[in-house]
Amino acid sequence: MYLKFQFDHLAITVSDLQQSIEFYRDILGFKVLGQLIQDNGNFIIVYLDMGNNKILELFNFSEKGEPITTYNDKNIGIKHFAYKVANVDETYRYLSDKGVEFSMEPTDAEGGVRIAFFKDPDGILIEIIQGELDLKPYENLF
Ligand SMILES: [Fe+2]
Repeated sequence: MYLKFQFDHLAITVSDLQQSIEFYRDILGFKVLGQLIQDNGNFIIVYLDMGNNKILELFNFSEKGEPITTYNDKNIGIKHFAYKVANVDETYRYLSDKGVEFSMEPTDAEGGVRIAFFKDPDGILIEIIQGELDLKPYENLF
């Protein structure tokens, strides 16, 4: 096995971003690292350091009750976890050759990283990510 999968982050979709920031930052003590705002402000990701340089991503979609789309699952709860890889496209080809189906093909994402999504045998969403995130400073939007 020449490809290396290193745990990178856990993403959860939250119903109330401010409430969750206050919980993870003020009660658990996680440092807020920054945020990315997409889709005209309808999709916000806040990044926290949950220790050992592992990132917790809080996803918040402002339109609630939307149907689940292929890869952008808006359900509240654990959304996906992610492994850092050296090369997303090479890893994509490696996994595709083994019959793994991708719900999102390799894509250049917000924050300057390259990502792709696939599911494990039980449908649990897994991301592979390449590069270092370029975060915007966190500012309270509420
Ligand atoms: Fe992610």
